[in-house]
Amino acid sequence: MAESAKDTLFQIDSVEEDFVFNERVVEVFDDMLDRSVPFYKEVIGSTARLLACFLHRGDAIYDLGCATGTTLLDFSRLLEDRGLKFIGVDNSTPMLDKARLKAELYSKTESLSFLEEDITKIHHPGTGAFIVNYTMQFIRPLQREDFIRQLYNNLRPGGVLLLSEKVISHDRRLNREYIDIYHRFKRKKGYSELEIAKKREALENVLIPFSIDENKTLLKSCGFQSVDTYFQWFNFASFIAVKPS
Ligand SMILES: C[S@@+](CC[C@H](N)C(=O)[O-])C[C@H]1O[C@@H](n2cnc3c(N)ncnc32)[C@H](O)[C@@H]1O
Repeated sequence: MAESAKDTLFQIDSVEEDFVFNERVVEVFDDMLDRSVPFYKEVIGSTARLLACFLHRGDAIYDLGCATGTTLLDFSRLLEDRGLKFIGVDNSTPMLDKARLKAELYSKTESLSFLEEDITKIHHPGTGAFIVNYTMQFIRPLQREDFIRQLYNNLRPGGVLLLSEKVISHDRRLNREYIDIYHRFKRKKGYSELEIAKKREALENVLIPFSIDENKTLLKSCGFQSVDTYFQWFNFASFIAVKPS
């Protein structure tokens, strides 16, 4: 069944370990993203608009950390008839099983494919675009420069990287206010104070956000020329980075 169960992972007392993308998470993952990532669908739509500006017929789009394939399924509808190839990459077998099942249910198996790979070791030269949504934040900060450089090297000239991340502000007051606003967003989506606090604790050592400036500096230091944000909602931001032609 591809429908996502309701995310109640942090309602029970037993969850005290660090957050991992295991089978229990996969079961509720689509519901979790819908209720935890502000403007999730709008970001996918805006990303598709940018892809339409930069991609050529025949280009491959790799979604790194594709999880259950929601983004690529939306792209295959929003960017239909453009002759693009959509490939999802993840290292979680249960996530990919669910992604393949969804592609089958929506009759998209011809335009979508999924690979089980470590995204920090990819080799796909000539790629038109890489999408990295809410995933680089889980890569150790010291590994991020090598990761982005590798993406840069694998893009064709004029190719684009579209990156969405949770971000921090180095202004302590603003950071605190943004986090409070984000927690109010989650309360409105039906999470309890306890669930919010437990999830925050589970993610503490695992999800390490950079600021907007740190992300931009990282992208530029790896060779990208046009670097900008195309979306921001308090502590969430999306970046475009273009490889020179
Ligand atoms: C927060 S989810 C991504 C959400 C997804 N991009 C979306 O927008 O729907 C992070 C995903 O990255 C995957 N992941 C984390 N580290 C990875 C790695 N080194 N190689 C491949 N996949 C990885 C996890 O298995 C998980 O599915």
